[in-house]
Amino acid sequence: MQKNTLKSGLEISEVGLGCMSLGTNIDKAQPIVEEAINQGITYFDTADLYDFGENEKLLGTILKQYKQNHNIVIGSKVGNHFNKETKEKYWDPSKEHIISSIKDSLLRLNLEQLDLYMLHGGTIEDNKDETIEAFERLKEEGLIKAYGISSIRPNVIDYYLNNSNIETIMMQFSLLDNRPESLINKIEEQGVKILARGPVSKGLLTDNHQTVLDNKFKDGFLDYNSNDLESTIKKLDQAFESLSTLTFNYLKSFDALGSIITGASSPEQIISNVKHYNEPLTDEQLNHARSIVKNLEFKDHLI
Ligand SMILES: NC(=O)c1ccc[n+]([C@@H]2O[C@H](COP(=O)([O-])OP(=O)(O)OC[C@H]3O[C@@H](n4cnc5c(N)ncnc54)[C@H](OP(=O)(O)O)[C@@H]3O)[C@@H](O)[C@H]2O)c1
Repeated sequence: MQKNTLKSGLEISEVGLGCMSLGTNIDKAQPIVEEAINQGITYFDTADLYDFGENEKLLGTILKQYKQNHNIVIGSKVGNHFNKETKEKYWDPSKEHIISSIKDSLLRLNLEQLDLYMLHGGTIEDNKDETIEAFERLKEEGLIKAYGISSIRPNVIDYYLNNSNIETIMMQFSLLDNRPESLINKIEEQGVKILARGPVSKGLLTDNHQTVLDNKFKDGFLDYNSNDLESTIKKLDQAFESLSTLTFNYLKSFDALGSIITGASSPEQIISNVKHYNEPLTDEQLNHARSIVKNLEFKDHLI
């Protein structure tokens, strides 16, 4: 598996496991995480909010025995106050909240230092300088190795690119949701890496596309109404052997790519995703695929 290097020197596998939907049953989650490791995946994405802390705990327990020998890198996220009992949450990117939250995340993850800590969203109205100060302080204190943001707001991304030492930006990015393309040059210029989430669009860009189309995308997707979406998927399916190979190769074509963060509900899905990630495509094939999909653009949060 190809690894990509962040500014701090952290190396992350070019396919990562998104752990948000692993659930809380360790017997179901463990085989998925272990298959990811078998397939060469070393980057694992979680957040304090996922299952109100339980996802970090689960990952900490499963990865403990693998951490040393497999160069595992864990990324987690912060920015929400949450109450596990009442399931209430509210946004808080303050310095105080970030500095106190890392201790809970480290405890749950069984770690003394977190590799990558990301702001879990945020708007242009936040006190962003205070957030940046908090991440810088955690880095100085050795509690984190690197920090980044998870955002699909161009104005927020721009602020952090200009005013902080972020190393990663997580955003929804796939052959179908190609909105991030307009931001790529600037991201690359700053040496920041993209963590592309939603690469298979919840299964739409897999062999299982018809079922996923019927069950998860009845109302369409972004600028695609349901008819547009169905006909685009049909065209891609008729022209190519695998929609997954297309989306993985599309993402691999950007030098700013850090990792493709795929979610999976079974070990078989990971095997299939890594297989398709490894299948090459020619530039001509990729260009043909790109000519079939729409070129989307971010419409909100521009200034
Ligand atoms: N704001 C944020 O920071 C944010 C937001 C969202 C996600 N994330 C991160 O990104 C990760 C991935 O997000 P996502 O779950 O939206 O992305 P995704 O990878 O597009 O979707 C995952 C789902 O796609 C289906 N799938 C995956 N591989 C498949 C295959 N080979 N064949 C058939 N179906 C397949 C599965 O659906 P079924 O369960 O139906 O089988 C799986 O649960 C999350 O786990 C999380 O770590 C971060």
